[in-house]
Amino acid sequence: MTFHSMWAELVPIGRSSASGGYRRYAWTPADLDCRAWFKEQAESRGLAYEVDRNGNQWAWLGDPDAGDAVVTGSHLDSVPDGGAFDGPLGVVSSFAALDELRARGTDLAKPLAVVNFGDEEGARFGLACVGSRLTAGQLTREQAHRLTDGEGVTLARAMEAAGYDPDTVGPDPERLARIGAFVELHVEQGRALDLTGDRVGIASAIWPHGRWRFDFRGEANHAGTTRLTDRHDPMLSYAETVLAARREAELAGAVATFGKIAVEPNGVNAIPSLVRGWLDSRAEDQGRLDAVVAGIEKAAGEYAAAHGIALDVVRESFTPVVEFDHALRDELARILGKDTGITVPVLGTGAGHDAGILSGRIPTAMLFVRNPTGVSHSPAEFAAEDDCVAGVLALADVLEGLARR
Ligand code: GLV
Ligand code: MN
Ligand code: MN
Ligand code: MN
Repeated sequence: MTFHSMWAELVPIGRSSASGGYRRYAWTPADLDCRAWFKEQAESRGLAYEVDRNGNQWAWLGDPDAGDAVVTGSHLDSVPDGGAFDGPLGVVSSFAALDELRARGTDLAKPLAVVNFGDEEGARFGLACVGSRLTAGQLTREQAHRLTDGEGVTLARAMEAAGYDPDTVGPDPERLARIGAFVELHVEQGRALDLTGDRVGIASAIWPHGRWRFDFRGEANHAGTTRLTDRHDPMLSYAETVLAARREAELAGAVATFGKIAVEPNGVNAIPSLVRGWLDSRAEDQGRLDAVVAGIEKAAGEYAAAHGIALDVVRESFTPVVEFDHALRDELARILGKDTGITVPVLGTGAGHDAGILSGRIPTAMLFVRNPTGVSHSPAEFAAEDDCVAGVLALADVLEGLARR
């Protein structure tokens, strides 16, 4: 089992010594180091390595053109101060599962591939799952080129600077047509498996989710000399909106988070002219999500009007509910329960994944590995090594079951 040594190689890349969290943003040096690591893993195993038109990396065992390929993988980028497992666990486990199949001497009838999808978290350019969205045709070349980071660098420029051609990006139906099944292994981002006492679970669905930008525009003025009654302070309407988001989410049985904010001019002694807050909201079903976002928008509008603030709300991205392929899900449950008779738990999740984006185009499934605290998108994210190894063996069983002659 090569899991341990692969993991040890990835651990230092893009890790902040201050927080212990990861900052592996798309097309930055840390991301490029992760990509170099992927290429090295592919080549050291004699797998055919390629980068597709959207910058996603592939490592093939068998003929990529044979069709009906069984593909596994995840992503290597991170959120700001993310954990070590969200993404990399899936990629490392995929290579380890291939090693396991080779050690078993399994006679494979179908090609297998490991994939690293680019820019899954959207931490730099604001849109999640850019690599898989482009591939699936959910994002056009023009839209992708316009994505811009906090420093004003476009995605096109960032790709170019990293040595990739941004003019090739776009839908890749020929590639998708060669894939028979995609299985993404991921650390669980909740405590369901801890509660059931299982190491590994199967995903049922992903909640619908989206990102909305709220711009509150007021009037910059002196913090010491402007009377309270003369102010048009957008921070007040923003703060009230954050509280409303919590209230609306509780009412609807959903979640709503303002986790990112930009303030202009951002001076201690100036009333802000602009407060821009990003809302992330998710719910089990579309009706609840619509209700929570409509409630927050309405409250924000009322608070803005009360303070003489102009409000603009823009939906920046949206992903509808995903139901993973039932036949593939049942097949995974059958494979994993075959020798043990154990029923593997089937769980829904509020987290987005490349598997969710691809599920509209190809049969797709996910495996979750137990996370004892449920913490994710934080340096405290964790999975025990025994559970990770169980995940690798489960993934190997699944790949073997799907690709065996
Ligand atoms: C990605 O991990 C997301 O669900 O935000
Ligand atoms: Mn994530
Ligand atoms: Mn992830
Ligand atoms: Mn994700």
